[in-house]
Amino acid sequence: MPTVADIRAADEPITMLTAYDAPTAELIEAAGIDVILVGDSMGNAVLGHDSTLPVTVEEVHSRTGAVTRATEETLVVADMPFLSFGVEEAESIENAGCMIKEAGADAIKLESGPHTVELTERLVELGIPVMAHLGLTPQRVNQLGGYGRQGTTREAATEIAELAVAHEEAGAFSLVLEHVPANLAARITEELSVPTIGIGAGPDCDGQVLVITDVIGLGEWTPPFSEQFGDVRGEIESAVGAYKEAVEGGEFPAEEHAETVEEVEDVY
Ligand code: KIV
Ligand code: NA
Repeated sequence: MPTVADIRAADEPITMLTAYDAPTAELIEAAGIDVILVGDSMGNAVLGHDSTLPVTVEEVHSRTGAVTRATEETLVVADMPFLSFGVEEAESIENAGCMIKEAGADAIKLESGPHTVELTERLVELGIPVMAHLGLTPQRVNQLGGYGRQGTTREAATEIAELAVAHEEAGAFSLVLEHVPANLAARITEELSVPTIGIGAGPDCDGQVLVITDVIGLGEWTPPFSEQFGDVRGEIESAVGAYKEAVEGGEFPAEEHAETVEEVEDVY
């Protein structure tokens, strides 16, 4: 069984991808990816929302279950949705706890800030490994006014750098740094002893994470710091088009897809 200690000890860059379903998780594990994040990015990536804000505990819970049932070796991290943590401590613990107890996740991730230092400490104390997340935190889109780069002033960078240390001290086993200057991510990576995992944070983090629908080319739009390594959109278009043509043209189903049973011949 994978543990958070395994990714601590990694000597190659840590590879992390999101997944929201069993077949994708199975393929990601087969490729030897270290960590799967059941991200609240599912809101945009597969649930048809235009932000992560509407994503619910039940949605992440259900999809975390799908991912953990399909994997054995891969560390699975469940992402805590908007307002599922940080309101009431007991509720935060219950929501994080169900990802571990019921859905089988190995750890949870929180979009971090000054308000999550104590909560991180409490969850870790209870045996729930926490991945922190600083820089661009998309659950704050309504305050940030978009998905722009964070930590671009001396003051903002200092705040992120200090919160990174505070979350390491609170017991976070790893830190996602999203959309921050590469030199800030490098500096934080140097400072922390727990691994940093970057997205839009340059090459000097201890690991990298991307959203699976970007990587496979399923999403219509890909952020500039991401990369499409495949064309699943094109694959789906051609498969669906071929199916339609085959049915309409009478080529599908063919003889090998059909079965005739003598006994039912005279049903009328
Ligand atoms: O939800 C998500 O996919 C994330 C990653 C981008 C880190 O939080
Ligand atoms: Na997220």
